[in-house]
Formats: sequence, C-alpha cells, structure tokens
Amino acid sequence: MVEFYELLALVVSLIVVTLFHWIYQWRNPKTNGKLPPGSMGFPIIGDTFEFMKPHDVLQFPTFIKERVLRYGPVFRTSLFGSKAIISLDFELNLEIAKANHVPGITKSISRLFGKNNLFIQSKQSHKHVRNLTFQLLGPKYLKLKMVQDVDVLARTYMEEGARNGCLDVKETSSKILIECLAKKVMGEMEPEAAKELALCWRYFPRDWFQFSWNIPGTGVYRMMKARKRMMKLIKETVLKKRASGEEFGEFFKIIFGEMEGGAEKMSVENAIEYIYTFFLIANETTPGILAATIKLISDHPNVMQELQREHDRIVQGKPEKEAGLTWEDYKSMTFTQMVIYESLRITSTAPTVLRMTDHDFQVGDYTIPAGWIFMGYANVHFNPEKYDDPLAFDPWRWKSEDLGSILSKSYIAFGAGSRLCVGAEFAKLQMAIFIHHLFRYRWSMKKETTVLRRFMLMFPCGSDVQFSYDTKVDNSVGYRS
Ligand code: HEM
Repeated sequence: MVEFYELLALVVSLIVVTLFHWIYQWRNPKTNGKLPPGSMGFPIIGDTFEFMKPHDVLQFPTFIKERVLRYGPVFRTSLFGSKAIISLDFELNLEIAKANHVPGITKSISRLFGKNNLFIQSKQSHKHVRNLTFQLLGPKYLKLKMVQDVDVLARTYMEEGARNGCLDVKETSSKILIECLAKKVMGEMEPEAAKELALCWRYFPRDWFQFSWNIPGTGVYRMMKARKRMMKLIKETVLKKRASGEEFGEFFKIIFGEMEGGAEKMSVENAIEYIYTFFLIANETTPGILAATIKLISDHPNVMQELQREHDRIVQGKPEKEAGLTWEDYKSMTFTQMVIYESLRITSTAPTVLRMTDHDFQVGDYTIPAGWIFMGYANVHFNPEKYDDPLAFDPWRWKSEDLGSILSKSYIAFGAGSRLCVGAEFAKLQMAIFIHHLFRYRWSMKKETTVLRRFMLMFPCGSDVQFSYDTKVDNSVGYRS
C-alpha cells in the first residue's frame, strides 16, 4: 500500500514538474537572441481575450495602448495559440513587410484559405497569382470593364433601397461586390446558383479571426462548413460550364490562359481556391470600410455638403441625367477620393502588415524569432508630426496629396511590401461609385449606428441609411421638397 502511495506521489510530482516546466517554457520562449519585452499571457489562450475586446474603431484597442506604455512600440504576446510580435514602429513594419513574404495568419485562417492556396503555397505561386490578379483588377481592367458593372449594380440597389425607404450599406456593398466578381469569374450564372452563392455569405461567421479548433459548435467549424459549401458551388458551376461549352466570365478566361498572352495554366482546384480567396478577402474588407465611411460622412455635415456638390456636378454634366458613369467621371470624384483616403487612415486600427517571419530578424538589441506572427499597426496614421490633429476626420488634409498611390511614407492602410493589397483600386472604385449613387438621394444614417472593431469591423446596430420621402435629388434645380 505504501508503495502504491509512493508511486502515486511520484507520478503526481512528475506531472506537476512537467506542467510547471511547460508553463515556464510558455512564458519564456527559447530564442537565439533577446526577445522584445512583453508577456505571453496564459498558456495556449495567451492574451487572446483581451486582444479581442471590441473597441471604438477610431481608437487603438486598450490592449495595445496599455502595452505600448508598459513595453514600448514593439512587444511580444501570444494570440490564438500562436506566438506574436506586435509593432507600432513604422520603419520596422516596412522592413518586415519587404523582407518577408509569408502571410502572418493564424491556423484557423490558413484552414479557411486552404493548404493548396496559391497565395500562400510558395513564393513562386504567390508571385504568379499576384500578376494574374493585377490583370483582373489593375487600373487598366477597371477602366475598360468594371466601372459600368459596378455602376449598374449600385444604381439598381440604391433605387430599390430608396423605394423601401432604407438600405443596409454593408450588406448592399457585399451584394454588389459578390455579384460583380461572380459575373466576371463565371459569366452568366443560373439564377439559382447565383442566389445560393450570395446566400453562402450569410452563413459565413463574422469573426473569422479565431482559435483553430475545428470541432462542432465552434466558429471555425461553421466557417469550414460555409467554405465547403461555397467551394462546391463554384466548382459545380465551373464544371457544368466547361462540359456544356458555355462561356465563362473574362476572369476565368484569363485564369485558364485562354486569352491572348495569358498566364500559365493552373488546375481547376487551384483556380477555384484562388477565386474563393478573392471573394473572401473582398467581402471581408470593402463592405465594412464603406459602411464606416458612410457613418463618418453622416457625422460631418461639412463633408456631406462638399460631397453633394461634387456628385451634383457630375450628374449635371451629363447630357442625360440617368446616363451611366464613365471612368472619367470616376476620376473626377476628387473630394470623394479624399474622403476614402481619410476614412481608411483613421479606421486603420487593426494591423495592416501581417507576416510570419521566415528567419530571425534583428531589431536593435532584440530578435524577432523565425516562425512568429508579426502584426504591424499603422501608428504612423496617428502621428501628429505627419498629420495635423490626427484624430480629426478631415478629408481636406489630402488636398494636395497624390491620390493615385496607395502606399507612402506615412500611409499603409493597404499594407506594404510583397503582399500589398491587390484589390485596393477595385475597393476604391466600388466605394466611390456607391457614394455617388447615395448622393443622388436625400439620406441619413440611423442615429444609433456604431462602428466597433473586434479585429474586424462590427456594426452592432446595423449600418442602415434611411431615405426621406420624395427622396430623389433633382440635380438641375437642387432638392425637390
Ligand atoms: C477597403 C478595402 C480593403 C482594405 C482596407 C484592404 C487591406 C489589405 C491589407 C492591409 C492587406 C495586407 C497587406 C500586407 O500584409 O502587407 C491586403 C491584402 C490583400 N488584399 Fe486587400 N484590402 C481591401 C480590399 C480588397 C479587395 C476588394 C480585394 C479583392 C478583390 C483584396 C484582395 C487582397 C488580397 C488578395 C491580398 C493578399 C495579397 C497578397 O498576399 O499578395 N483586398 N489587403
């Protein structure tokens, strides 16, 4: 009996020692150099819950502010089961963005993208799909093909909203985006399939920055189910079209190298995963940013007035009031562009450079170890030396700036380096055309609208705009009343 208790005591002691050793190792990760200051939080969970607390979109999270005060602009932590370095040092963010090409995503997000995804598979495949994407979404293509489609969709949805008296900005923007991309990729779709594709996004859980446990009841499980459903739908449409010889959209023709001077061929599976990535990123960024922008506009009557003037002028300049928008019209929306830049500056309160360091990286006395996730925040957007009164929403500050560039020494809303956003021009175009059509009506945003961030943008009270009765603006004589 005594032997049994001795054995039990030994086993328990061993477990306790192993546990303490594991906790010690968790808190003090082994590296080849000195780690940036910080703490790793609780084992596995790390600081995830504190990091994910919702916060005002125009402020950095308290989690970040407190740690910057305690440790300085570069610190270590642990999020979603991964070791992470958070940096608010602009120069370092740029250096890491240029020197590393591996995206800094959690395991749950890599599951979502798929392990064969060409955007993440290898340096070569990444380069290849980036080039391809520029053919699809670069200014040349937008100019030739996209303005008209986005214009028609935005006009149609806005008319429908005005008839109903209200419209949810985020949801409408998402519909425009998905319909527009779906048509470009797959050509005309059977109405049922198109409807189901749009519906898939409804099943898609909002907060996809999660722990990676794929077990029933978790967000990742629901996410993977939604992913499977979408991929199946896209694949079925593609295969059906191939078999029947029906025409694909221009994107798919480019993807399969069927057009003049086209790119290398890729498998159907690769192509579908690539298209899916596109839909996913596009849908998770632009609609939220657009809704936040509309909220900022509605909170600033002087901005509203200036936008009204700009869009009235465009409509008045047309021989026919209902004539479609042209590339030149879009390019003439200078103040709208300034509003979009300013909105992106001030709402960039989540990291805009996300990388996984592929080699140890020396920063002064500290080492950022290989394999850690690097999250670079756009602190520079709030630097008073770069932006006067940085917390103010002031589109006029962009008056003499180059609005053609999406990256500068004080602007990284679309990231930087080898993974600089490839959809930026398309996002700006979509936002500007949406704003144009909104200003053809008399509208206001619901008072209770709030914009929060929990890594992604959140609208707990929705993002509805209301149209007033007899809402249409008569641009030749001002408002009808
Ligand atoms: C206002 C809307 C958008 C914002 C704020 C935004 C922002 C970003 C940011 C910060 C990155 C990461 C860059 C880095 O890590 O350095 C990124 C990458 C990316 N974005 Fe966007 N994005 C937007 C819209 C879009 C749209 C509409 C699309 C597609 C149609 C898109 C496609 C992509 C892709 C594919 C990447 C990964 C690029 C790569 O890995 O090479 N984005 N975006």
